Amino acid sequence: MTLYDILATHAPRASSYLEVGTYAGGSLGAVIQANRRIDALCCDNWHKPREDGQPGGPGPVRELARSLGHRGTLRFLEGDSAQVLVSLAETFDLTLVDGNHREMAALADLRLVWPRTRSVMLVHDAERPSVQLAMQAFMAEQAPGSLDFESGLGRRATAIFRRRVS
Ligand SMILES: C[S@@+](CC[C@H](N)C(=O)[O-])C[C@H]1O[C@@H](n2cnc3c(N)ncnc32)[C@H](O)[C@@H]1O
Repeated sequence: MTLYDILATHAPRASSYLEVGTYAGGSLGAVIQANRRIDALCCDNWHKPREDGQPGGPGPVRELARSLGHRGTLRFLEGDSAQVLVSLAETFDLTLVDGNHREMAALADLRLVWPRTRSVMLVHDAERPSVQLAMQAFMAEQAPGSLDFESGLGRRATAIFRRRVS
């Protein structure tokens, strides 16, 4: 299954969504199409130039959401995730980590996003060695039995972390 398929599977059961790495809104669009009422918070520094030459940023993403009939709230955290997520005092049913894929940056995102995840955290490009190392280090820090993990398959794999409820 692709990331978008996996998001579409989980989004209907979620009322709130946080994503790190929004880019042009592809993953957000998949979430909205599966749940138009979801409240979303998108974090990106928009340093990556868009392939279509259009300017990145909240404006075009907001326009995309509107065109898809989004009826929930849509907010943005602009900047480096390691800085802007630290002071975020909210939790979300569903989260996605798809920002900087270097090992230490991905590990920082996992450490910031998991405590803000109520149910399911997805990690894209999970087959990359850098992301694998980050996930291993992250899992070694978690209390035994506190989560379930599915590694995902193949190229552009999506790993799934589910919080266990006791
Ligand atoms: C692979 S793209 C995200 C793709 C998107 N999730 C989708 O499926 O359409 C990665 C995004 O992460 C952003 N990014 C990279 N490093 C970041 C950081 N340190 N903080 C916030 N965003 C970052 C880039 O600007 C880029 O837009």
